[in-house]
Amino acid sequence: MKAVKIRDNIYWVGGIDWKLRNFHGYLTQRGSTYNAYLVIDEKITLIDTVKHYLSDELLQRISSVVDPAKIDYVVVNHVEMDHSGSLPKIMEAAPNAKIITNAHGEKGCKFHYTGEYDYQVIKTGDSLSLGKRTLSFLQTPMVHWPDNMVSYMPEEKILFSNDAFGQHIASSERFDDELSLDLILEEARKYYANIVLPYSKQVQKALDAASKLDIEFIAPSHGLMWRKNLGALLEAYQKWSTNTTEKKAVIVYDTMWGSTEKIATTIYKAFQDKGYSSHLMNLQHDHISDIMTQIILAEYICVGSPTLNKNLLPTVASFLTYMKGLEPRGRKGFVFGSHGWGSAAVKQINQYLADTKIEVLESFDSRYIPTNEFLDQVRAKVKELV
Ligand code: FEO
Repeated sequence: MKAVKIRDNIYWVGGIDWKLRNFHGYLTQRGSTYNAYLVIDEKITLIDTVKHYLSDELLQRISSVVDPAKIDYVVVNHVEMDHSGSLPKIMEAAPNAKIITNAHGEKGCKFHYTGEYDYQVIKTGDSLSLGKRTLSFLQTPMVHWPDNMVSYMPEEKILFSNDAFGQHIASSERFDDELSLDLILEEARKYYANIVLPYSKQVQKALDAASKLDIEFIAPSHGLMWRKNLGALLEAYQKWSTNTTEKKAVIVYDTMWGSTEKIATTIYKAFQDKGYSSHLMNLQHDHISDIMTQIILAEYICVGSPTLNKNLLPTVASFLTYMKGLEPRGRKGFVFGSHGWGSAAVKQINQYLADTKIEVLESFDSRYIPTNEFLDQVRAKVKELV
């Protein structure tokens, strides 16, 4: 396990999690990486660590450049354990190292780890001299924990951005010009939609602050490092963080005997007729985190479920709970469903969408199997209101 050179005396020393498929409910089909960075200067500095089970990989990569015992500073940009999980192992290997973090970071570290570590607490605007190079710090609270911050190295124009600009991709390639840009941006979009979306206002503030920095290289804590396509990345973040949508509709549903599916398909076709990119997603086959990757671009979100035992189907409830937490804003939609002798699902979905601040234009609820006349009315109403 070797370090990967980024610039003279600056290395990627992270861990590759090839097997990861679930990141607290987010389907990570491509695995992930936890990126840590090593700076060799008068003060030897490690920026972030990796998940606890990849600590040996981190130590091997560091050792390919320098004896870990010589590390002077460990910068903790974010305490979540995918980045701090190896902190105890690192502090054991580098007993003289000082932890550089902000006040929330220090508090968070002390909640997670019992070691008696030497902390140096910094805040936005502070700088730390490493010798020839400097790290200056910008706190980005609630993107997506209170402790989040980014570290900027002006001499090299590198932004160590931690979770921001990350993607869950495990690969042998390390840089954004070594893999398909479409693939990397798609995974960056999935990451934003499933992790960062509720904090978009804070992202706007952070983007504003970062725009004052001269950045040539972005070193995030997951996935590929950005050295070529920074413009496309920043443009995408601007779009996602302002809830800017496209002419797109996502129809999400589950079905028992096919009735709700018939209404879903009718709505899907009505959007197509109106010239929309229409996306049909069945919760028996599509993962909620992949649905969010579509929803982040969608102007319309339509949700359907049959009634089962005076409730909506658990798959639909799970999706609605997940989406409510991620707070997509400024969307409109339709609600639909079917029932036999007692209707409940449509009302419950309406309540979820009201709580998510999605404006419902109309609801459609079929008794048993929707007739052709019922479906014609659905189609006409959707086309009228869109
Ligand atoms: Fe990648 Fe918030 O941890």
